[in-house]
Amino acid sequence: MASLTIRKLDEGVKTYLRLRSAKNHRSVEEEVRVILRELIEGREEPLTPFSAPPAPSAATTPQRIGALPEASVTLIIGGGIAAYKSLDLIRRLKERRIEVRCVLTKAAQQFVTPLAASALSHERVYTDLFDPQSEFDAGHIRLARDCDLIVVAPATADLMAKMANGHADDLASAILLATNRKILLAPAMNPLMWNNAATRRNVAQLQRDGVVLIGPNSGEMAEAGEAGVGRMSEAIEIATAAERLLRPPVPKPLAGTRVLITAGPTHEPIDPVRYIANRSSGKQGFAIAAAAQAAGAEVILVSGPVDLDDPAGVTVKHVESARQMLEQVQAALPADIAIFAAAVADWRVANEGEQKLKKTSAGMPPLQLVENPDILATISKLTDQRPPLVIGFAAETEHLIDNAKSKLARKGCDWIVANDVSPATGVMGGDRNTVHLISRKNGEKDGEIAVDSWPVMTKEQVAIELVAHIVKSVTDKSLEPAS
Ligand code: C5P
Repeated sequence: MASLTIRKLDEGVKTYLRLRSAKNHRSVEEEVRVILRELIEGREEPLTPFSAPPAPSAATTPQRIGALPEASVTLIIGGGIAAYKSLDLIRRLKERRIEVRCVLTKAAQQFVTPLAASALSHERVYTDLFDPQSEFDAGHIRLARDCDLIVVAPATADLMAKMANGHADDLASAILLATNRKILLAPAMNPLMWNNAATRRNVAQLQRDGVVLIGPNSGEMAEAGEAGVGRMSEAIEIATAAERLLRPPVPKPLAGTRVLITAGPTHEPIDPVRYIANRSSGKQGFAIAAAAQAAGAEVILVSGPVDLDDPAGVTVKHVESARQMLEQVQAALPADIAIFAAAVADWRVANEGEQKLKKTSAGMPPLQLVENPDILATISKLTDQRPPLVIGFAAETEHLIDNAKSKLARKGCDWIVANDVSPATGVMGGDRNTVHLISRKNGEKDGEIAVDSWPVMTKEQVAIELVAHIVKSVTDKSLEPAS
């Protein structure tokens, strides 16, 4: 087969090939082979690099864990017997949906092969600072920056000494010097080396530089009869530490709190096929439920008929009418916080038809309306099981603040979230909301009424802001001295 001399290609084709190969982390020759294979097979999808084995089948791919964000690690494998554990570390990281690109130092290659690291990472492995295939566009800078975290495992005494002193005479040390990413080191060495004054100095310097260390653990050494501190942490420990740096745990300030929320419209039956409804979409109440759940609360959402998916991790009770909503709310008590975001129909038909009402020559059937129970007022006025924080909504089309203030007093709740729902605002059924939080100063029963007006936000942002206010109020209360 004829061989191809890249040098003889014209400049435009060369530039295209260089950019494409850099993007795919392949050598230019590899990229040309891939392009030829794609052409022959008529494929548009890029093939996997020759150095990497085929991607795992669906059956062998670990279960995707929810909607975890993608993350990537440059894993520098140093030269030590613990390097064999780093092969397992590649697997452990990939199980956590963390992409891994490996760099092997010269010494590391005495213990593990680039082929093994490539087979496990499904990526090309890098070994040389002066590799013409990756260095034409400063590959060590890409390896240093095109990742979210750099992990060094095993981090040998020599590699740490180089790092502490800013050396850059091979690919690994050049990456470590050129990076602006967080670095996690998993040291591994003989206990005497770990305790040596030079290593102690280097470790202290690296910690001052913001480098994070995991281990070393204490235990038996590879050297017969030797034991002490110096064993590299296990792969699973390093992967967990890496994941914590990549995806810091989200605080759960409402953990242990039970939050009850109503949302959506209610449907009040006229007869078996007709009902009275309103334009509420339920989006605001659902967003609050999701935000409270994300903050760690146990959430019970009582929803009228809506066209929304149940928020993940939330217990949802689906109802139709105001009376069913009240029943479910009462059944869900006790709760620490109750948020009544539903647009409950004020009235229902007293004489609900058992059969579909017919048109008659006598004209329209008389619809008699009776008042629905006011769920917010009922729960606010409970003596036994009143949730410590009760929040109502006031959807108004005029005199917004005045109406909301009087609603706060009339219904007996602690806060009112007031919003203008006149048709021009597009709030009903829309995605944005402009709200005012109305409460009593210092939470006192007869305290002065305060109005906090928020800028226009998405309903999700309103929910997050409301939950933040709730967290603050709950935290402030828990800090109050017991009387
Ligand atoms: O009186 P109005 O309907 O404007 O009050 C709105 C507030 O009262 C909202 O929080 C709403 O969920 C609640 N409400 C209720 N039961 C009703 C009517 C309103 O819980 N029957």
